Amino acid sequence: MLEAVDISWIIEQKTILRNIDFHLLLGECVGLIGPNGSGKSSLLKILAFLETPTSGQLYFQGQSVPKSVPLPIRRRIAIVFQESLLLNLRVFDNVAIGLKIRGLSKGKIQERVDYWLEQFGVRHLTKHWARSLSGGEAQRVSLARAFALEPDVLFLDEPFSALDAPTKEGLRIDLAQVFKSTHTTTVLVSHDFKDIEHLTNRVLILLNGQVVAEGSAPELLRSPQKGEVERFLAYFAS
Ligand SMILES: Nc1ncnc2c1ncn2[C@@H]1O[C@H](COP(=O)(O)OP(=O)(O)OP(=O)(O)O)[C@@H](O)[C@H]1O
Ligand SMILES: [Mg+2]
Repeated sequence: MLEAVDISWIIEQKTILRNIDFHLLLGECVGLIGPNGSGKSSLLKILAFLETPTSGQLYFQGQSVPKSVPLPIRRRIAIVFQESLLLNLRVFDNVAIGLKIRGLSKGKIQERVDYWLEQFGVRHLTKHWARSLSGGEAQRVSLARAFALEPDVLFLDEPFSALDAPTKEGLRIDLAQVFKSTHTTTVLVSHDFKDIEHLTNRVLILLNGQVVAEGSAPELLRSPQKGEVERFLAYFAS
């Protein structure tokens, strides 16, 4: 579905990402985990065509992706960030806007918006203004907006990290349910190994802009690691 070969990203003479190979198969959810500043968001932005790597090549559905990414390819992906970036509109219009841009009919838009707001438990907020929502509600609306686009690849950059523990737990459960029913191909960045364990099939650990370990969450916790990776994982094993 998506592949990155030997990606490096250098800005202002600083190497942010170094020689990264990554692949994402249809229907899987792959996690990216690592300490602050390890390059998770940078890698996500490159995979989502928001930044251009200094070297390396991206492939989307088997085709190499040109430096200037064509709109039809960009429209196949959706992104949710840590802070929900809702527009100053009502909830309905926030979810509908991407569908309007894509030229869907009014009836189809209504159907999809209702469906996804329902899936994330916020249909009762349809007519509310985005600015009046709590952080948890806003993040649910952001997820509904992303899923409504029915993207080929979904990118989630720490979608729960601004939420309190019970809110986060509830949203994680709902998201796991949606993944189970849709098999949406996803890249999930999280600080929290619990998110990774519950939501992903496979995880890559990033340290200083490099992929230092890869496997399923239980495999990584079980298998012996060295140095900085061991120290990073020990924090979650305890
Ligand atoms: N556009 C940019 N210009 C300059 N430096 C950048 C840019 N984007 C990222 N960086 C630097 O790259 C490094 C990795 O940042 P990145 O945001 O990818 O880390 P992260 O793993 O997502 O961290 P966090 O867990 O805090 O979100 C940091 O040192 C950051 O300052
Ligand atoms: Mg980040």
